[in-house]
Amino acid sequence: MALAFSLSTPLAARPFLVSGASSPFAPRQPSPRSAAIRAPVKAVAAQPQQSPAPPDLDSVVMNTYARYAVAMSHGNGAELFDTRGKRYLDCVAGIATCTLGHAHPALIKAVTNQMSRVNHVSNLYYIPEQAALAAWLVSNSPADKVFFCNSGGEANEAAIKLARKYWHIRHGSDPTNIPVIITAHQSFHGRTLATLTATGQPKYHRNWWPLVPGFQYVTYNDAAELKQLADSIGDNLAAILMEACQGEGGIHPASKQFFATARQICDDTGALLMCDEVQVGVGRTGKLWGFDHTGVQPDVFTLAKGLGGGVPIGAMCCTAKCDVFEPGDHASTFGGNPLATAAGLAVANQLDSGVLQNAEQRGAQLMTGLQNLARKFSSVVKEVRGLGLILGVELQGIAASDVVAKAMDRGLLLVPAGKHVVRFVPPLVISHQQVESVLSIFETVLSDVAA
Ligand SMILES: Cc1ncc(COP(=O)(O)O)c(C=O)c1O
Repeated sequence: MALAFSLSTPLAARPFLVSGASSPFAPRQPSPRSAAIRAPVKAVAAQPQQSPAPPDLDSVVMNTYARYAVAMSHGNGAELFDTRGKRYLDCVAGIATCTLGHAHPALIKAVTNQMSRVNHVSNLYYIPEQAALAAWLVSNSPADKVFFCNSGGEANEAAIKLARKYWHIRHGSDPTNIPVIITAHQSFHGRTLATLTATGQPKYHRNWWPLVPGFQYVTYNDAAELKQLADSIGDNLAAILMEACQGEGGIHPASKQFFATARQICDDTGALLMCDEVQVGVGRTGKLWGFDHTGVQPDVFTLAKGLGGGVPIGAMCCTAKCDVFEPGDHASTFGGNPLATAAGLAVANQLDSGVLQNAEQRGAQLMTGLQNLARKFSSVVKEVRGLGLILGVELQGIAASDVVAKAMDRGLLLVPAGKHVVRFVPPLVISHQQVESVLSIFETVLSDVAA
């Protein structure tokens, strides 16, 4: 069926600029959250209607997301504008993904240049942009080899397969002898069956039994428990998979002792230390990799989100000792295609040209400001934690979703990380002045909820 609405319709002419009962963004059963967001949005004057209404998203897209009743029209750096023309400071960045913010000239140039030459060919052939991005990753990390895919879940799935194969090579392939991967409670590793099993949060397991065998969980940052669990698993330990700072689980940076213990266990047993860098990698923490804060280096790490600056890409990177995949072991049609890797290269070049340094400096500025606010509003703020530009404010006596809704009303985009933590993950190009504005809006929100 051809859609009457064309995405080439000028934004100003799109009928969903018109607020009111017929808005296609009016959910059939508004959730309390979307109602809270929508209520304060002021009606704007009707625009001339030059095309038929776009389709109602909720009637044609599966109900897997609780959406805010807003659609974004365009952005610039750390600013986003919705289709009603409202401006936001973006401290979500597509959930820690738009490394260079919105409409960055270098990313636009890289992607449009690549698109005008060749955007996809298949891994049947050599892809120079893929080679160049892999070379950047290898020369800036402990990795020797890279496998490209399209998302974080896929990158972790690849890491899990690699760990199993590496274990089978050493222990044989008896199907009754199950290799075990240790992950952490409150972790998040993706939504495929293996990665949701790896995710140590029961709410993600509900409805998906039977889960994939071979995962056991440990309390994050509890080195003694990790040692005890590893000892009980013995030779069947294939890998320890950890985030260097838990993201979805509430912004918890790793302790150095925990990672040192994990490294020691892996060195002693031959298991692989694997870091899920999907949320914290590629400069997010003010260092290139999250594990740069832990004092140890992994055998394997996974990337996605920030690597393409918003163009979908994932990667699983490993050291030479566990580079055991052979042709036929693993594959991805789109993985490492010219378009995605050209985007990754543009991000890499920008990180090397000052963006990484900006992330560190703006992260320190935001952390100091949030800590000052935590002292001022100690009745509602329990703690501020995080690394670089992945910071979490743990609230007390108030839901994170309420604070996010109030911030959105005031033109600041934030995202919860669990029920009580508000997460700040702005583009790494956010400016000094913009961080000051973020803090000022957040102060108003806190004074509102503390009143
Ligand atoms: C640490 C971590 N790992 C894996 C994933 C899954 O990534 P994706 O949604 O790209 O599959 C996420 C997503 O939030 C993540 O934060």
